[in-house]
Amino acid sequence: MRIYVPGDSAAKAVGADDVVRAILAEAARRGIEIEIVRNGTRGMIWLEPLVEIDRGAGREAFGPVTPADVPALLDGTLPGHGRVEDIAFFARQTRLTFARCGVIDPLSLADYQAHGGLAGLRRAIGMTGAGIVAEVTASGLRGRGGAGFPTGIKWKTVAEAKADRKYIVCNADEGDSGTFADRMIMEGDPFSLIEGMAIAGLGVGATKGYVYLRSEYPDAIRVMAHAVEIARSAGVLGADVLGSGRAFDMEIRKGAGAYVCGEETSLLNSLEGKRGIVRAKPPLPALEGFLGKPTVVNNVISLATVPVIFERGALAYADLGVGRSRGTVTLQIAGNVRQGGLFETAFGMSLGEVVNGIAGGTASGRPVKAVQVGGPLGAYMPVSKFDTPLGYEEFDRQGGLIGHAGLVVFDDTADMLRMARFAMEFCAIESCGKCTPCRIGAVRGVETIDRIAQGDGAAIPVLTDLCETMRDGSLCALGGFTPFPVMSALTHFPDDFSTLREAAE
Ligand SMILES: Cc1cc2nc3c(=O)[nH]c(=O)nc-3n(C[C@H](O)[C@H](O)[C@H](O)COP(=O)(O)O)c2cc1C
Ligand code: SF4
Repeated sequence: MRIYVPGDSAAKAVGADDVVRAILAEAARRGIEIEIVRNGTRGMIWLEPLVEIDRGAGREAFGPVTPADVPALLDGTLPGHGRVEDIAFFARQTRLTFARCGVIDPLSLADYQAHGGLAGLRRAIGMTGAGIVAEVTASGLRGRGGAGFPTGIKWKTVAEAKADRKYIVCNADEGDSGTFADRMIMEGDPFSLIEGMAIAGLGVGATKGYVYLRSEYPDAIRVMAHAVEIARSAGVLGADVLGSGRAFDMEIRKGAGAYVCGEETSLLNSLEGKRGIVRAKPPLPALEGFLGKPTVVNNVISLATVPVIFERGALAYADLGVGRSRGTVTLQIAGNVRQGGLFETAFGMSLGEVVNGIAGGTASGRPVKAVQVGGPLGAYMPVSKFDTPLGYEEFDRQGGLIGHAGLVVFDDTADMLRMARFAMEFCAIESCGKCTPCRIGAVRGVETIDRIAQGDGAAIPVLTDLCETMRDGSLCALGGFTPFPVMSALTHFPDDFSTLREAAE
């Protein structure tokens, strides 16, 4: 009997390791032979620890499982959910990037290949660098780290730059609130990121890659480092990638623990051992990046999506989506929801469908008030905007942001003035200090919101002016996008900014 218990840190946080210990003890007591696989999570966090048992006729899911459930689990009397693929939350997904996550043993290269792994790299090896870049361009893939910049254009810039060395840097800093897709894929399917980086290296002519991985993710660091060793000893990485005669190798580097180190130029400084402060652009990292050399900086999900694009073909990927947002979006549903987790679907589903149809509304049972999409710099979307389809331009037109596709849901008890204050405070704390609109503006922003909270209505236009200055004058998106949550809170929830003022009048 094979038993799958996720080794993912979200599952561990709710007791997966205790469940493993209980299963081993109970199996030993009964004298039965079992094999435990520590897979990644399937992404249905409310069901974790989600245990799957394969008694020879497919995998049956149970969860959340506690150590006390284990005797019934082994007896076959514990009520289960049937096959994972039949659970509604899972059945409605289009899993491409996350196709293997939760299915395979993350550190088994054989398992990886049995599920389509390395097919993309093998195909890429038969192509020229320009052909690889053209394939990524044709897929319509855009950066999943925040800005949605076309990956093909970035790769082409690096490929065409003249230099003795080029680099692939994976941004695994994942600092956005409510996001966990990068961590999930690194813990659940690390070879997909390695394969994506190798394809990127072959495409642009880079022989070395780095994963800048936040220090708050010790499990992801451990799994990735181990996977890199396995890939190297199997010849997937090294001087002769899969016998191609072309070289690519990589290292895992631990992040320094600041939100701004997720910004690509700040990240490069940190990777070079310098203080994580933003660099002015130009020069673009694609031309002068790591150690001054042409560098592809891409998010984990962008790179981990590359293998499936090469496996299935760019057009199959580009076939999915809406407008200029092609392929799938890996939504991370969090906050006050009944069913939170990772939901991968083609771009185009409406925000309301995700919140009400997929996530099942709020956990509190109260009405939804707002959803912050795109991390701490994303706008608060009110229910009146729930028809907005998930797409970069579609959200932009509504004053919103897809970003890294994190959704944090709030019910009607949320005080939007406090949320606006939090956004300014966050910016003040995380600012790298290089430019004035952000360094000083965020501090003044907190003070101005405090004045509004005290009933000073004259401070509202000051806040609006300040937000305009930060938006237009900041060097990077930390200062430049903080006005999104602040102004969306003020615009869509004016009552939260006026109660005390009206009371005072
Ligand atoms: C303050 C700030 C924080 C950021 N944090 C991250 C992050 O944690 N992960 C990430 O991939 N991109 C982050 N970005 C975006 C990166 O600067 C960059 O656009 C991205 O890594 C490029 O990869 P992509 O094209 O694959 O999205 C951040 C940007 C800003 C301004
Ligand atoms: S906007 Fe803020 S974080 Fe970005 S460069 Fe300016 S001070 Fe630094």
